[in-house]
Amino acid sequence: MIPRDTVDKIIEAARVEEVIGEFITLKKRGANLLGLCPFHGEKTPSFTVSPVKGIYKCFGCGKAGHSVNFVMEHLSLSYPEALKWLAGKYGIEVIEKEITPEEKERLDERESMLIVMQYAARYFVDNMNNTDEGRSIGLGYFIERGLRPDIIQKFQIGYSLEDRRAFTNDAIKAGYSPKYLAKTGMSILSNTYVEGNEIQQADVFDRYAGRVMFPITDEGGRVVAFGGRTLSSEKKVAKYINSPETDIYHKSKVLYGLSLAKKSIQQKNVCYLVEGYMDVIAMHQAGIENVVASSGTSLTIEQIKAIHRFTTNIVVLYDGDEAGQKASERAIPLLLEEGMNVKLLMFPDNHDPDSYSRLVTAEEFAVYLEKNAQDFLIYKARKLSAETKNDPIKKATVIKDLVSNIALIPDTIIRSVYVKECSNIMEMEEQILQTEVNKLRRKAGDKNKRAEELEAEAQHAVEALIGPEEKEKKDTIRFEERELLRLMMNYGNILIKVDGENEDKTIHSFEMTLDEFIIMELCRDEIDFEDPIHQLIMDEFMHELSNERLPLLNYFVQHQNPDISTFAISNAQINYTLSDKWGRFGVFVIDEMNEVKRSAEHFLFSLKDKKLNTFILGLKEGLKNQEHDDIIKTQEKIMNLELNKKRINKLLGRIIIK
Ligand code: UTP
Ligand code: MN
Repeated sequence: MIPRDTVDKIIEAARVEEVIGEFITLKKRGANLLGLCPFHGEKTPSFTVSPVKGIYKCFGCGKAGHSVNFVMEHLSLSYPEALKWLAGKYGIEVIEKEITPEEKERLDERESMLIVMQYAARYFVDNMNNTDEGRSIGLGYFIERGLRPDIIQKFQIGYSLEDRRAFTNDAIKAGYSPKYLAKTGMSILSNTYVEGNEIQQADVFDRYAGRVMFPITDEGGRVVAFGGRTLSSEKKVAKYINSPETDIYHKSKVLYGLSLAKKSIQQKNVCYLVEGYMDVIAMHQAGIENVVASSGTSLTIEQIKAIHRFTTNIVVLYDGDEAGQKASERAIPLLLEEGMNVKLLMFPDNHDPDSYSRLVTAEEFAVYLEKNAQDFLIYKARKLSAETKNDPIKKATVIKDLVSNIALIPDTIIRSVYVKECSNIMEMEEQILQTEVNKLRRKAGDKNKRAEELEAEAQHAVEALIGPEEKEKKDTIRFEERELLRLMMNYGNILIKVDGENEDKTIHSFEMTLDEFIIMELCRDEIDFEDPIHQLIMDEFMHELSNERLPLLNYFVQHQNPDISTFAISNAQINYTLSDKWGRFGVFVIDEMNEVKRSAEHFLFSLKDKKLNTFILGLKEGLKNQEHDDIIKTQEKIMNLELNKKRINKLLGRIIIK
């Protein structure tokens, strides 16, 4: 277990915007930050981070929490694992008391695999620099290719010796168990046999031999796999051998270079997508860091989503050769469908990013990238138009191809911009293209539905915030209880003006905090909350206030009682900030800040009103079994209460909350 004070220290250091900002691009919107939700596939941002409140909330899928929750969810870690991850990030020392056996086992498995990979990476680097074979073959190869030492180091490039047992033997000697050497795919076990009760290994040898080694890291920079390139030019030998799929390496999710690229992708707001390890590395050498490659697979949706978290803009730099064309033909539709702005960039004379970057200076290379990226759809339209200039029949067929690309774009406005542009280029009537696009979208309707439903949900959340929140559940008293607590947590420290009566019946106004005001009103009528959790939170408020502390949202979000912390997280008030698009349509979110007192009064009165209702109903029920005298007494009581109710309703009527 991690001691409480260490936990507090970690939580204090782990600013929510900083932690989340490491994984997704957040844009400032008023007091909050907005980005694409990493938990559900959305294309317009509804994931909101509030630095002040220390929490995040997605208005699309409803996920919410504080920084530790985010790390848990996003990196699939347990609570203590997430704390440790954050401690590592902020350089906080964690001295653990004890861990449970289950924790230990889970940690052990993956942790052991990661440790093996770290050892392997260092081992291969060491081989390349400190053995004759490594220096002459591995290092020699990279020097000949013009790779600078700092870049070789940055990518932890290494060399595996030709001796098929070198790595495995040394690793076992260094204390790494064959189990994890095999589990990571670094070693291959064969001819296992059982002797007595023990499984024996007849043969354990290296997966890689006589290859240069490119470590593949996860987003956090930990080595999870390797790509090993042969240096032999023999056709029969596979050019690359990559790690197999393991518990720490999921090919379809990992992008080569992402851990080194993400900062730059955020800063430049564009990501270059290349084909090979060497292309990524060469671009870094030319000073371009916002570049990734899909390692050893064709680009997957998961990889695209990983990029989309940082930017919507992608430039595809695939080779002009047949393989490169094929790869981009597969990748581009997926990118368009994800709502990415796709540009295409080609190099002259069949150069790839690696070879071209060696041909020109770094400055020339950067200028080339800047100047030559063309919008994919426009480029395609121009190309098709030129190819079919005098051939109307052919033109008709290629238009279908173009239209099928345009129809993938999820955003209606962007789609219609392309319809217009492309119809100009192709010298076609806009309406014809639009009709074709619509037809295709209807056909694909079912497939797109889910995504569109999610977007609609996000917009509903927006509308719900514009109109009165949470229409349902209003008929129970718990609704008002919750709303009052929500106001106290979010705005309890705001000073409000309250009118009081002097002894001579004159009115004077004075200031108190919203917390004090609500508690005063509740105490005056001796109102307890019905919901036990609500009452627990109210007790906590009263206790803290009586000690002259003003507990706010953070206090409850980090509360040790999970019921209280869950309540706080789900009732955190972060205003959903609308995109500019909405602003232009004249839609604005009401600023609750200006409304807090009126909101509080509204919920107080409506709570009292409901309480009175229940009470009156109870009395009326009792009338049935009462004798004459009692009936009159009860009816008097009821009349008094009804009068009170009228007064309250009148007050309630005066308060119009939007
Ligand atoms: P390339 O053949 O273009 O390799 O394959 P490269 O990285 O540019 O290497 P050089 O320039 O010839 O040294 C592009 C990518 O496809 C994957 C690798 O990820 C490679 O970087 N690939 C290629 C494999 O996984 N296996 C292979 O056998 C070949
Ligand atoms: Mn290459």
